[in-house]
Amino acid sequence: MQNATMENIKTIKTYMSNISAMTDARLRELLPSAQSYPEVIHEAMAYSVFAGGKRFRPVLCVAACEAVCGSGAPALDAACALECIHTYSLIHDDLPGMDNDDYRRGKLTNHKVFGEGMAILAGDALLTYAFEILANMATAENSLQMIQIIQEAAKASGEAGMIGGQVVDILSEQKEPSLELLQYIHSHKTGALIAASVRIGAILGGANEEQLEALTIYAHQLGLAFQITDDILDVVGDAEKIGKPVGSDEKNQKATYPLLFGLEQSKVMAKEAVDTAIHALAPLGDGADMLKQLALYLLSREN
Ligand code: IPE
Ligand code: IPE
Ligand code: MG
Ligand code: MG
Ligand code: MG
Repeated sequence: MQNATMENIKTIKTYMSNISAMTDARLRELLPSAQSYPEVIHEAMAYSVFAGGKRFRPVLCVAACEAVCGSGAPALDAACALECIHTYSLIHDDLPGMDNDDYRRGKLTNHKVFGEGMAILAGDALLTYAFEILANMATAENSLQMIQIIQEAAKASGEAGMIGGQVVDILSEQKEPSLELLQYIHSHKTGALIAASVRIGAILGGANEEQLEALTIYAHQLGLAFQITDDILDVVGDAEKIGKPVGSDEKNQKATYPLLFGLEQSKVMAKEAVDTAIHALAPLGDGADMLKQLALYLLSREN
C-alpha cells in the first residue's frame, strides 16, 4: 500500500494549482466574452466556469501529455474543452429535475441565479462550445488525430459514457444497488470523462499503444477512486471546503459506495483503486510521477 507524504502532497498541490491557473487563463481567452450579445448566456456560462473548480480533468489531461512527451502545452486547449464539458455536467446535475442542489463551487447553483431555462441553455452552450474548441485545434497535419480526440470526447460525454451513468444514477434512486450497478454508475457518470481526459492528453503527447493502454487502466481506476471519494465527502465532508451541500446523496436516496459498504470499507475500496491505478503506470517510468501523485492525492482530498 502506498501513501503520500506531506512533502508529496505539497508538491502535487502546487502542480495542480499551476495547471489550474494556466487553464483559467486559457479559458478566459477561449470563451466568448460575457459582454457579447446575448449577454445573459455568456454571463451564465462564465459564472459556472469561473466559480472555482479544482480543474482536475484539465490537470489530468496536461499531466498525461507531459508524462508521454515531457510537455503539457500541446494539451492545454483540449484540457479547457474537457473543463467546459465537465462544468456543463455540473450545471445540469444540480437542476431541480436532477439532484436539486442550491450550491456548487461555493456559490449558488447556476439555475438559482439565472433560472432553470437559462441554466439548461448555459450547460448546452458549454457542451457545444467544447467541441468547437476541439475542432479549432485541427490543422492540416493533425486532423486525423483531432478526429480521434473528438470521438473520444463525444463518446465519454454521451449515452455510452457520462449520460449513461447519470441515467442509471437516476434510475437507481431509492433502490438498494448491486456492486455491479454501482460500478456502472461510477465508471460512466464520472469515470468516462476522467478516462477521456487522460487518454486525450496522452494522444496529444504522441503516446504509443502500450502507453495508452497503461494510462487507460490507470484512468479507469482513478475515475472510480474519484467518485468513491466524492461519495465519502458527501457524507463526512465540510460543506465550506467542498463548496456544495453535504448530504445531497442521502436527500436523493442515491446509490453510493458508503450506502452499500459503509464509510470504512468505501475508503479501503478507494485505496485499492488508487493502488491498481499506480501499478498500471509502470510502463511509463519516472515520467508518470505526477500522475502517481495525483492518484495518491485523491485519498486525502478534502474538496
Ligand atoms: C464533481 O466533480 C462531480 C463529479 C463528477 C464527482 P469535481 O469534484 O471535480 O468538481 P469541481 O470541478 O472541483 O467543482
Ligand atoms: C455527478 O455525480 C457526476 C456528474 C456527471 C456531474 P454527483 O451528483 O455525485 O456529483 P456532485 O456530488 O453533485 O458534484
Ligand atoms: Mg448527481
Ligand atoms: Mg450531484
Ligand atoms: Mg456527489
